[in-house]
Amino acid sequence: MSDPSGEKTGHSPLRPSVRSVRTGASPISEMMTRALSEPDLISLAAGFVDYETLPVAEVREAMDALLAEAGSARAALQYGTTRGLPALRERLVAHIAKLDGFDPGERGYAADRMVVGTGSQQLLYLLCEVLLDPGDIVILGHPSYFVFMDALRSAGVTCRTVPLDDEGLRVDALATLFDELCSSGQGERVKLLYTVSYFQNPTGLSLSASRRRALVNLVQRAGLPAQPVIVEDAAYRELRYDGDDVPSVRSLDTTGDRVVYLGTFSKPFAPGMKLGYGLFGRELAGRVEQLKGAHDFGSSNLVQHLAHRVLEMGLYGKHVAQLRESYRRRRDATVAALEREMPDGVRWVHPAGGLYVWLTLPESVETGPTSTLFETSVSKGMLYVPGEFCFPEDPAVATPHHYIRLSFGVGSIDRIVEGVTRLGEAVRACL
Ligand SMILES: Cc1ncc(COP(=O)(O)O)c(C=O)c1O
Repeated sequence: MSDPSGEKTGHSPLRPSVRSVRTGASPISEMMTRALSEPDLISLAAGFVDYETLPVAEVREAMDALLAEAGSARAALQYGTTRGLPALRERLVAHIAKLDGFDPGERGYAADRMVVGTGSQQLLYLLCEVLLDPGDIVILGHPSYFVFMDALRSAGVTCRTVPLDDEGLRVDALATLFDELCSSGQGERVKLLYTVSYFQNPTGLSLSASRRRALVNLVQRAGLPAQPVIVEDAAYRELRYDGDDVPSVRSLDTTGDRVVYLGTFSKPFAPGMKLGYGLFGRELAGRVEQLKGAHDFGSSNLVQHLAHRVLEMGLYGKHVAQLRESYRRRRDATVAALEREMPDGVRWVHPAGGLYVWLTLPESVETGPTSTLFETSVSKGMLYVPGEFCFPEDPAVATPHHYIRLSFGVGSIDRIVEGVTRLGEAVRACL
């Protein structure tokens, strides 16, 4: 069938790749568009950071210093290398090593194992491309960070999941899963294990120190035909409001070849810089670099020079300390509002860091995008992330529909409290 212009109708003239079709649209982007287009809607959905605390003065100071001298300005305005600015990588490696209680050079905390990315999301995507073929198996938490799930859908892999408790990923359940996969002959296909080890998106839960050790030990000894790569996504590590920092999972990897550590400037500094970094095993770093070469042959050199100045001038550390104070107040106000406004039967995790509060409603109250609760909340002018978006599609596990993710990152405290109040009204109306 042709229309008068001679074009075929009834089907698209485009012939997208299998990969493009299976990637599909991210369910969450529709919600984000909605949130951003309705200024009166209080959105506790987006994982944005606070506008008011964005480091305007710090970035201006670092940028002024960078551009003040023609030589450094020209270096920043030229192309850089695929792997990333060496001086920045040195600083970032020293930063992670210090957090973990090591010196640079020990345990593979080395700049030649680091690749800088356009956000840590790019590095997650590149890791998928480097490691995964369709039909491979990736293990991740139930629930997990949903944009990584988009990358996994694109890769065409099977997700298998492990539940979380107060100490994060349940390593006992992981051991059971490994046994099951080995005995059904699928052990060989397990390539990657993903964990957000600090203040996970969406639950706010962290992997405890003893679980970190148990996880590394288990993966080394699980009896799998080949060890999967552990990807530790530490996006929220520095946004801690209670207690002391815990050494990373990466710090327990004596060779530095088993655990990948991913960090980002997005949450502790400025997402607009879209700067992420990964510390990889030696061979993996090379492979990620090769693929990144094909993607973009290097992230923004200007942003990397800026980040280097920010670190060198001590502006990063200063900003993170202020940010912690500010987010702690927001976290406290959010939790206090929940205590006041939520009816009996609603529970939540008290997050010691990060940007999210994870709510469990009675099982009878569905929270999905077509649920009565969601519609009622939106009609009252508040938006949340339905928890079901955060559960990977595991063929062996049903997706629950009674969770909610709230973000306290963006908007004034008054608006956050008002948002929680409206949600409380909507929940009561649905009980
Ligand atoms: C757990 C986690 N990892 C990675 C990212 C990606 O951040 P970016 O690509 O901006 O570094 C996010 C963003 O929300 C996140 O929540």
